[in-house]
Amino acid sequence: MKSKIIKVKTKSKSYEVHIGINLIPKLKNILKKKKLIFSKYLIVFDNKIPRKFRKLLFKNFESQKFYTLDFSANEKNKSFLSVDKIHNVLFKNNFHRDDCIISFGGGITGDLVGYAASTFKRGIRFINIPSTLLAQVDSSIGGKTGINNKFGKNLVGSFYQPDLVISDINLLYSLPKREIICGYAEILKSSLIDNKKRFIYLDRNYNEILNLKRNYIISAILNSCLLKKKIIEKDEKEKNLRKSLNLGHTFAHAYEATLKYSKKLNHGEAVIFGLMNAINFSREKKIISGLNSDLINKHINKIEIKNKYLDLFDKRKISSILKFMRSDKKNQSDSINLILIRNFGKLNLNYQAKLSELNKFLIKELSKAYL
Ligand SMILES: NC(=O)c1ccc[n+]([C@@H]2O[C@H](COP(=O)([O-])OP(=O)(O)OC[C@H]3O[C@@H](n4cnc5c(N)ncnc54)[C@H](O)[C@@H]3O)[C@@H](O)[C@H]2O)c1
Repeated sequence: MKSKIIKVKTKSKSYEVHIGINLIPKLKNILKKKKLIFSKYLIVFDNKIPRKFRKLLFKNFESQKFYTLDFSANEKNKSFLSVDKIHNVLFKNNFHRDDCIISFGGGITGDLVGYAASTFKRGIRFINIPSTLLAQVDSSIGGKTGINNKFGKNLVGSFYQPDLVISDINLLYSLPKREIICGYAEILKSSLIDNKKRFIYLDRNYNEILNLKRNYIISAILNSCLLKKKIIEKDEKEKNLRKSLNLGHTFAHAYEATLKYSKKLNHGEAVIFGLMNAINFSREKKIISGLNSDLINKHINKIEIKNKYLDLFDKRKISSILKFMRSDKKNQSDSINLILIRNFGKLNLNYQAKLSELNKFLIKELSKAYL
């Protein structure tokens, strides 16, 4: 099967996203064709990627100078300390701006390595090879890079587009089911932002996607990337339209921070809770119809999440959730900007929710027995 190529053109950079099967062994040729040959490479790789894929990747660079650094991907390591470690390897080995750093991992590795790339001597070349479904459908494109700190998630970061993205679906088959579900969360989000047809397609075929059936998974990745391309080409720096991609994320980031980035809740799982909250809040405010919100909630309820919402959170956590929602980017004093949903493909990007109204809402959400 021929790989699909999406061309992303933003104000700061144009680059290709290759989506297909068995792309890693072909990387050398792609780099040659795209004139992305550099004198030195640093490959930062997630140490849970099966060894055979690492070997395949490294083989592309056999005749060149390359260094490797292994990384243990978790939200705690998405930190300034890890950026410093990467920079130290680059400095020690005399890297320059026109050398290249490659991220080989999921969204955590990609966000971290992208940020390290953007800040090393004000920007070194950067290639992203996403190895999780979440990273292939979402985080590897669009140029948002970042790290966490004690005040919250992704609060330190930059916009820095990659020079190339290679999404090889072979990498997905070693992912635990839980990680496939995390990627599915962003596919679902993308369909809600896009249109009803895509949502209905997911509702009918989500099992095929979760089971990584070839054509279904490729089309899910392709459609999510195409929507993201369309959005970021119009609004690279999130002045307006790009905010739509944050649907559910203000809640999600606060949940992750409240649980101190514990393994009990992954980012994608938090996104599913956040989508559910955004839909219920939209319904409460009569922004979305009962019919559509029921349709979406029914779908969400079919998704098997490891830990249930009500097992992870209770009313005592509301003040912490609200505190982190406030410190999420772009929020003002006593109100929180929420992305709400009016209909499939139609969002309200600037709903200012009062803290008191969110407090009441969360009390209700945390009394219901779903998910
Ligand atoms: N930059 C953006 O636009 C953007 C968008 C969405 C999410 N994100 C960020 O992405 C992160 C979540 O990404 P993620 O879900 O990919 O998490 P992740 O990077 O932690 O990967 C999930 C798990 O899978 C393991 N793994 C990775 N590749 C594997 C493979 N091929 N086989 C087996 N195991 C493998 C990892 O070690 C990890 O345990 C969050 O930090 C989130 O903030 C960023």
